[in-house]
Amino acid sequence: MSVVLEPMAGRHVDAVCAIDSRCFSRPWSAAQWRTELTAADRTHLVARDSDQVVAHAGTLRVLDELHITTVAVDPDHEGKGHGTRLCIELLRLGIATGATAATLEVRAQAHRTQRLYGRLGFAPAGIRSRYYDRPTDDAVIMWLHDLDSPEIVERLDRVAAELLPISDGAAS
Ligand SMILES: CC(C)(COP(=O)(O)OP(=O)(O)OC[C@H]1O[C@@H](n2cnc3c(N)ncnc32)[C@H](O)[C@@H]1OP(=O)(O)O)[C@@H](O)C(=O)NCCC(=O)NCCS
Repeated sequence: MSVVLEPMAGRHVDAVCAIDSRCFSRPWSAAQWRTELTAADRTHLVARDSDQVVAHAGTLRVLDELHITTVAVDPDHEGKGHGTRLCIELLRLGIATGATAATLEVRAQAHRTQRLYGRLGFAPAGIRSRYYDRPTDDAVIMWLHDLDSPEIVERLDRVAAELLPISDGAAS
């Protein structure tokens, strides 16, 4: 079954909330998501397998910076490349619209997630102490500078090409 990436819309919100409730200790409400979807400086994508939303990710644009604000994968569909593909697509959309750097915060204990971002070219740049609760954790601030450089564009292409074809179950 083929998986497609598409802009998040109102019809996806219930499924997105269901994923968030399994991924985050403070998930957004459906009302918060509906407001978020009206903001011009936000981009949110979902990965959809037939009728099922299996993951989503989004960015906030601040001048020429792209802030990755959320990445969430249905725990039943982890390790299949959805998180990586969504991030690559968001970065490519950012590059196409003139972004020159990208940044994000990630839990200090989320080593696998940091590895995902590291593969895309993000590097740790600082710590926000006790930024997260439930459970308490520091945030690692990561930056990807020169987002629009040929090196990063080539790197994103390479990581995307190394993933198995975008079909659910390919990496299982
Ligand atoms: C962190 C998170 C986003 C990762 O998403 P994911 O879709 O499981 O990540 P990917 O599948 O792209 O990558 C995970 C691993 O699978 C491997 N992989 C993915 N697709 C693959 C494929 N098609 N073929 C082979 N290997 C693959 C990756 O190389 C990676 O390996 P690693 O863990 O050894 O580094 C997800 O676990 C999640 O939503 N966690 C909870 C919320 C969260 O912490 N979000 C991030 C902060 S906002």
